[in-house]
Amino acid sequence: MAKKLYIKTYGCQMNVYDSERMAEALGGQGYEETASPDDADMILLNTCHIREKAAEKVYSELGRFKGLKAEKPDLKIGVAGCVAQAEGAEIMRRQPMVDLVVGPQSYHRLPELEARAGGGAKALDTDFPEEDKFDHLAKRPKANRGPTAFLTVQEGCDKFCSFCVVPYTRGAEVSRPAQRVIDEARDLVERGVREITLLGQNVNAYHSAGAGGDWSLARLIRALAEIDGLARIRFTTSHPNDMSDDLIEAHGTCEKLMPYLHLPVQSGSDGILKAMNRKHTAESYLRIIERLRAARPDILLSGDFIVGFPGETEADFAQTMALVEAVGYGQSYSFKYSARPGTPAAEREEVSEEEKDERLQRLQALLRDQQRAAQDAMVGREVSVLFEKPGRIAGQMGGKSEYLHAVHAHAPRAGRGEIRKVRITESAANSLGGVLV
Ligand code: 5AD
Ligand code: SF4
Repeated sequence: MAKKLYIKTYGCQMNVYDSERMAEALGGQGYEETASPDDADMILLNTCHIREKAAEKVYSELGRFKGLKAEKPDLKIGVAGCVAQAEGAEIMRRQPMVDLVVGPQSYHRLPELEARAGGGAKALDTDFPEEDKFDHLAKRPKANRGPTAFLTVQEGCDKFCSFCVVPYTRGAEVSRPAQRVIDEARDLVERGVREITLLGQNVNAYHSAGAGGDWSLARLIRALAEIDGLARIRFTTSHPNDMSDDLIEAHGTCEKLMPYLHLPVQSGSDGILKAMNRKHTAESYLRIIERLRAARPDILLSGDFIVGFPGETEADFAQTMALVEAVGYGQSYSFKYSARPGTPAAEREEVSEEEKDERLQRLQALLRDQQRAAQDAMVGREVSVLFEKPGRIAGQMGGKSEYLHAVHAHAPRAGRGEIRKVRITESAANSLGGVLV
């Protein structure tokens, strides 16, 4: 009988992709996935270390499995992801019931680690090995899949923003060879995928030398656009300094590249940007936005923001608000600064929690208004929707527009994976409603 694997994924989309690949790799060990930890033979937490809260969640979650482990001594408990990388053996000291700790660059060694762990034996691997883990991970099985998929093309970060743990947990920037990415994309499309989101911590820093010379992200996107049956391409997350001319141009010329871009700026104050080691200014960011909009006037922009970075004054914060006003975001993610051990900013004196709270509220109110305005502006327009699943009402289908808005429409004969034109008739809290054209 197959053993059961319960994976819980925290954090970013790259973790979602990694969890899929880990489940496949463990499939070779006779595991199949289960939706509940209660009947699992192995529990794997794929963790996030980006902010303190995210990391602490892991320990409280592990605490909840104590009872299960007591009932079922054969149960294997593993911690993967960025907390595993950052804390390593410390996790087993804090939570002795953990059998296995594996960092993001060692997932291809997971089957071997799993075999070693358990019955009192511990397995730990937080190396940054030379070999490409994706080469050694079991191939995605041939089963059909949903219409959208993530595909990691680049990992790691060399930017060293002074607040961020990613360069330490995910290591240096590494890009996968273009041909591998193209082959994997073809394979996904053969199995029903119509939209692929290319992933990387710094995805637009993608760079690989290989067959046919140098590959940039823009060139990769153009090559992927040649795949019949692949209808949509997205990519995330990007750094402003890697928004190259050819990538900006691709937004205007490549039809399969969707008019949506997540381009974090973090702050609108040049002083804070400098202290964050972002290596760009508010002005240079705004110029990029201008050029993107010249290439693709309807592009919907998304951003990340941090409030209360050490040394941030009210005047600095006002500049962040001004930048947000100037850009007009359709989507956004905003956070209170959270000191991360080992990062340069963690050495600096913090802004008070009250100020952080108050600024976050003001920023989020503005961003919420912008998001709602962008959504409301869709009413009366025609969008194309990739249907992903039936809606809550009989005959309804739900999916995403090219701008990544959730859209539902009465479409009783439309199947999963179909792309249909929809005229938007209503804008609700978190989604749009429309009718088939
Ligand atoms: N504190 C708060 N937010 C952070 N982010 C990264 N590190 C921190 C931190 N220490 C945010 C940034 C980044 C997003 C993924 O998470 O905005 O773009
Ligand atoms: Fe972190 Fe900056 Fe790298 Fe993004 S670019 S992963 S925020 S260090």
